[in-house]
Amino acid sequence: MTRLVIIGAGGHAAVLIELFRAMGGFDIVGLLAQSGPAEVLGVKLLGDESRLEALRRDGVEAAFVAVGDNAVRARLAGLLQGFAQPAAVHPAAFVAPSAVIGAGAVVMARAVLGTRARLGRFAILNTGAIAEHDVVLGEACHAAPGSVLCGHAALGARALLGAGAAVRPGVRIGADAVVALGAAVTQDVPDGARVGGVPARPLGA
Ligand SMILES: CC(C)(COP(=O)(O)OP(=O)(O)OC[C@H]1O[C@@H](n2cnc3c(N)ncnc32)[C@H](O)[C@@H]1OP(=O)(O)O)[C@@H](O)C(=O)NCCC(=O)NCCS
Repeated sequence: MTRLVIIGAGGHAAVLIELFRAMGGFDIVGLLAQSGPAEVLGVKLLGDESRLEALRRDGVEAAFVAVGDNAVRARLAGLLQGFAQPAAVHPAAFVAPSAVIGAGAVVMARAVLGTRARLGRFAILNTGAIAEHDVVLGEACHAAPGSVLCGHAALGARALLGAGAAVRPGVRIGADAVVALGAAVTQDVPDGARVGGVPARPLGA
């Protein structure tokens, strides 16, 4: 059993607790967060991230950041030196043999990571999301539940593709961009832009 600490104590952390239990092979020793309930699904809150070094000295081998906010997750990921950083792949996900998954990334139940697709470090491919062949998902990005990236599309670092949104083949969404839920993205989205609608246009324009 690999001893694992999870950073986060919200809804996303609860999902990861059940996901690591479904994977098997992990002993979840506790959660770290600035605030939160004393316990989540039977896993105790041990304190905040300042406990990491003591846990490492106590023999905790692995750490996982389970925080939904992309920028916060990217920042916390920088604290994990010295720990193994496993990817979390639900047994009910489909990952193509030629796909590549970065450290600390998660593939949720019923998600599909297609042929030669690449999921960046600390990225989230959420429940039922589909990243088709040759899609590139950047570091700490999030493809929300039911979203679809068609072949050769790309989602930039820390970008959010909202629930149920779809991206045309080969279209690139920039770093830190936000795509509203239900959007149809037919052309490239610049870094940091916020778009939504069918077809997707800048929000508030
Ligand atoms: C795009 C989004 C981030 C905007 O949220 P917000 O910052 O709170 O902004 P508001 O709700 O005030 O909306 C801002 C504008 O965008 C519009 N808008 C919001 N959501 C939209 C959508 N899904 N499609 C089209 N337009 C949308 C609003 O109508 C509003 O337009 P207005 O300025 O003309 O009134 C949010 O609606 C969204 O889609 N988030 C993604 C949720 C998601 O999938 N999370 C993953 C969970 S696992």
